[in-house]
Amino acid sequence: KKIVVLISGQGSTLQALIDACAIGQIPAQIVSVISNKADVFGLERAKSAGISHRVFLRKAFDSNLAMDNAIGDYIDNLGADLIVLAGYMKILTPEFTQRFAGRVVNIHPSLLPKYPGLNTYQRAMEAGDTEHGTTVHFVNEEVDGGAIILQAKVPIFPEDNISDVEQRTREQELRIYPLVVKWFMEDRLKLVGTQAYLDGQLL
Ligand code: GRF
Repeated sequence: KKIVVLISGQGSTLQALIDACAIGQIPAQIVSVISNKADVFGLERAKSAGISHRVFLRKAFDSNLAMDNAIGDYIDNLGADLIVLAGYMKILTPEFTQRFAGRVVNIHPSLLPKYPGLNTYQRAMEAGDTEHGTTVHFVNEEVDGGAIILQAKVPIFPEDNISDVEQRTREQELRIYPLVVKWFMEDRLKLVGTQAYLDGQLL
């Protein structure tokens, strides 16, 4: 089975997926890493792991749709089973999310449906929340809006600053993202209509 990972930056969750594939926790191979930014550290991680990688720059295309169609064609040519968004910071077109419906997952650093979008740590702290977390979900045309697969919660303590909460949350991301990808690769995880199922059970 084949995985393609889309990144825009550091690739911290990408690294967790690379490691999980290397030790056989995920029974699949990352066949390519795609970035919409040149020279990001995530691409170095792909290189170090001997994974092929490709950059698609928006400015090389006439439209978002043209770019997403090119990425989609590249992914189809690779024969990828699953597309994993790992810090991919560009919103995918509805045409792309429909083309690969049920085969794209994302990780978002909040307890969705709370705080879709950016600056989630800051927003949680400003709201006085006592817990935060991260969510793995199927991707649909709504940003951070698809069916929820798995969440991990972390506490927010009164003395915390943003980076404390971020670090605590990111630690959980490294744990839950490989687990979800493993489920998918074992054919245990499915999107049926708008809902996610694990082992036939509604999540
Ligand atoms: C993760 O925290 C994830 O929740 C968000 O992007 C981050 C991973 O990207 N979607 P990176 O390691 O900063 O490139």
